[in-house]
Amino acid sequence: MPRHIAIVMDGNGRWARRRLLPRLAGHRQGVESLRRCVKACAARGIAVLTVFAFSSENWSRPQDEVSGLMQLMGKALVREVPQLTQDGVRLRFVGERSGLPGAMRSALEQAEAATAANARLQLNVCFNYGGRWDIAQAAAGLAARGEAITEASLQTAMSLAHAPDPDLLIRTGGEMRISNFLLWQAAYSELYFSDTLWPDFDEAALDAAIAAFCARERRYGLTSEQVRGAPC
Ligand code: IPE
Ligand code: IPE
Ligand code: MG
Repeated sequence: MPRHIAIVMDGNGRWARRRLLPRLAGHRQGVESLRRCVKACAARGIAVLTVFAFSSENWSRPQDEVSGLMQLMGKALVREVPQLTQDGVRLRFVGERSGLPGAMRSALEQAEAATAANARLQLNVCFNYGGRWDIAQAAAGLAARGEAITEASLQTAMSLAHAPDPDLLIRTGGEMRISNFLLWQAAYSELYFSDTLWPDFDEAALDAAIAAFCARERRYGLTSEQVRGAPC
């Protein structure tokens, strides 16, 4: 089983368009899908789930979609925290906080504090996040402290230093690209692309991704014989 699953939750807009609904209706359904996915991961003993909720680049979307997404996030925060606590989920937000409105920043901090003692599943929500931002902020932090920049020091300065690297990286919605998600952390993640749009990504779809992961051989640069412990 993967210990850490990361997901690019893509396809909300197309889900809505197919139903002749506004894009925001797709994002609303996306929140429901995330709730279902969190429960499913907890039930399957996954230790860490990291999801891409809003990228550094998503600010360039139409103004009403951006403000709708901010509102949706604010509301979900207030609504979901009691259930997350009940399910043993520890919530963390990963991304550039200084770019967010003050009220949202304090809501994020409150939600993190309220769930800090939970230990069943770690949920990292990447919000105003970009993989390049993450590498740059890690390097800038080390430089400001006069520390050497090495792979090991960068690793500890990255925004997901509290979690192991993702074992399985899923992207829904049919696109086969990373879109500036976990550029550093995905170095050896198994990639899984699903045509299913995020609002339709259910337990069966998650199980199919996990099954595909279990059938892979992770070699980390070694030969297959080495990995299997067979003589070369
Ligand atoms: C992903 O769904 C959610 C966010 C980027 C916030 P999209 O909104 O990108 O959905 P599509 O790709 O347009 O279908
Ligand atoms: C990636 O999806 C970001 C999130 C899911 C939050 P996008 O829809 O923004 O990615 P592109 O634009 O298709 O690369
Ligand atoms: Mg998209």
